[in-house]
Amino acid sequence: MAAVITGLGSWLPSRVVTNEDLCANLDTTDEWITTRTGIRERRMVTGGLSTRDLAVEAGARALKSADESTVDAVVVSTTSFDRLCPAVAPEVAHLLGVDTVAAFDLTSACSGFPYGLATSAGLIAAGVARKVLLIGAEAFTTLVDPGDRNTAPIFGDGAGAVVLRAGEPDEPGALGPFDLGSDGAHADLLAIPAGGSRQRSARNGLGFDTVPTRDWYLQMAGRPLFVQAVERMTTSTRRVLDRIGWSAADVDWFVGHQANVRIVRAVAEELQLPEQRVAVNIDRVGNTLAASIPLLLNDIFDRGGLEPGQRVLLSAFGAGLSWGSTALVWPDIPIDAVS
Ligand code: UT7
Repeated sequence: MAAVITGLGSWLPSRVVTNEDLCANLDTTDEWITTRTGIRERRMVTGGLSTRDLAVEAGARALKSADESTVDAVVVSTTSFDRLCPAVAPEVAHLLGVDTVAAFDLTSACSGFPYGLATSAGLIAAGVARKVLLIGAEAFTTLVDPGDRNTAPIFGDGAGAVVLRAGEPDEPGALGPFDLGSDGAHADLLAIPAGGSRQRSARNGLGFDTVPTRDWYLQMAGRPLFVQAVERMTTSTRRVLDRIGWSAADVDWFVGHQANVRIVRAVAEELQLPEQRVAVNIDRVGNTLAASIPLLLNDIFDRGGLEPGQRVLLSAFGAGLSWGSTALVWPDIPIDAVS
């Protein structure tokens, strides 16, 4: 049995923040951000919008695309939960009108979508669900210090989702082999130190807060992460290509996590994939963590580039460290507009 994609949808908040907008309050330039990352603008939540709201919008579009009104499980992949507890997925399921089905969050930062695909495929293979709605949703800019030039230009908010159903491995849309991995030795390269059990905001006996403010925000060591990202995504995608029996020439689209356009291009170069087969939307959305891959799929579809029968290679890398890749032949499905 395989997990087959039958629907895709995504959603972006309407507030566009350009590099020029950021420059007004940050010691940076449009030229630095564009040349070092490929990002020109990103979307940001505003007016109380949260991860839940983004997830519901993308989830509804994916359900519509799959022509489904219900599923057996809702999985939300996110690292920007609405609250530390409870998970956001049950509320998302409720708001989508699929109450009482299995619903849980999955946290794997930027590799959240491949991990979510593998988990959803596992639910289907185990007979727990015949249909799963997987949503990658992030309001991650709320966890980034707007005054930190190392991280503030990089991230954006958004959500993307797929519907998966039980099917046959040789059907278009069937998820191919997975390669998932992690390396916790480098856990500190990308982290939000405070908020969890290790570092709560507690008043000590002297009556002041023991958590420095910067620990509530994302801290990132960009350069070593860059090296790891290229290495891990290259190895991981090669493993998937070997297992599925495709050569690089067979790949119509490389859909790589959008952390930095230079990372995606470096992986493509290692794999010897021509530039026109490398999907890029980071210029308009920034790094949207678990939402990155479904937003990118939607983007190439919207621009008329993603056609049924095309061979798609997916890969992502992020905090943990963690990474994951898979491949599929694109199915013939109607897709709803991105925003
Ligand atoms: O999502 C998955 C996980 N994340 C990643 O994979 C991120 C991977 N890393 C990257 O994409 C890149 O490392 C960054 C885009 C984050 C940074 O680019 P870089 O080319 O590696 O720059 P750097 O951090 O080594 O900094 C180079 C210089 C430094 O100045 P000095 O020390 O050379 O004088 C920084 O202080 O650029 C400076 N810098 C900036 N300058 C202007 C750092 N951020 C900025 C900024 N504007 N926003």
